[in-house]
Amino acid sequence: MTCFMSHLTTVLLVLCTVDISDSASFEATTEYVNCLNDVASCTKLYQNSYTDISGTIPTELGTFTALQEWQIWKNVLNGTLPTELGRLTNIAKLIVGYNSLTGSFPTELAELTRMTYLNLRNNNFLGTLHTELGRLTDLTYMSVGYNSLTGSFPTELAELTRMTYLNLRNNNFLGTLHTELGRLTDLTYMSVGYNSLTGSFPTELAELTRMTYLNLRNNNFLGTLHTELGRLTDLTYMSVGYNSLTGSFPTELAELTRMTYLNLRNNNFLGTLHTELGRLTDLTYIDLAYNGLMGSLPSELGLLTRLTYL
Ligand SMILES: *[C@@H]1O[C@H](CO)[C@@H](O)[C@H](O)[C@H]1NC(C)=O
Repeated sequence: MTCFMSHLTTVLLVLCTVDISDSASFEATTEYVNCLNDVASCTKLYQNSYTDISGTIPTELGTFTALQEWQIWKNVLNGTLPTELGRLTNIAKLIVGYNSLTGSFPTELAELTRMTYLNLRNNNFLGTLHTELGRLTDLTYMSVGYNSLTGSFPTELAELTRMTYLNLRNNNFLGTLHTELGRLTDLTYMSVGYNSLTGSFPTELAELTRMTYLNLRNNNFLGTLHTELGRLTDLTYMSVGYNSLTGSFPTELAELTRMTYLNLRNNNFLGTLHTELGRLTDLTYIDLAYNGLMGSLPSELGLLTRLTYL
């Protein structure tokens, strides 16, 4: 069944549900019936991919004032996020990724201060990240990757100190990584790859010692890899490929013994490879190609018995 959000009335919420023999859908159906009875007490709406919902998000969304969770992942919604979104002050989880939404984020988004989980990835969102986003201090998860966002990161991002997952990849973000990012010490996942960021890595990156996944690839980053990076001992994935980094590899990289994926490709790294790299025995992927590295691979790389790509 195809549902048209432009006619989103409570009746349609019911019509949109599918096969009630499927228990997941049945749960959803029950939820919709509750929502049908009283929109203002509806707390959860799951309308993920199974319904192919198209059209724009109606302004009536603003009447769902009790909504704590709205998931409408993988449909074909278009148009913009209505400013009425700002009336859903109870919302904690908003998942509208994989649609065709556009326009800039309404500043009203920053009114939703109970938000913990925000997923807007894979749409066509434009414009910048507002400084007001710094008010969403309960956020632990934010993904706005794969959009057409631009501008520089507001320093206010650093107010979101509960954040564990931050995905800003594949946009047109400009400017540098702020030293304030070092305040996001709960981060375990950070991806800013495939943007137009520049400047050198702030040494404060090394404060993010819980990080397991760090993706900075395909930007215009300059400067060297700091020796302090050796403090990120939980890292399993690091990609800084396709930048303009230079200098030699700090021997401290060899401290990152949990690393399974290391991509340094297409930079201007110089010097020789340290024998200490042989300590990275969990590596399954390492790419050092297209740099100014001299000499041969240290024989210690032969110790990396799990390598499947070199
Ligand atoms: C949304 O998509 C429909 C169907 O392709 C189209 O008719 C409509 O004009 C679009 N609306 C907006 C706001 O882009």
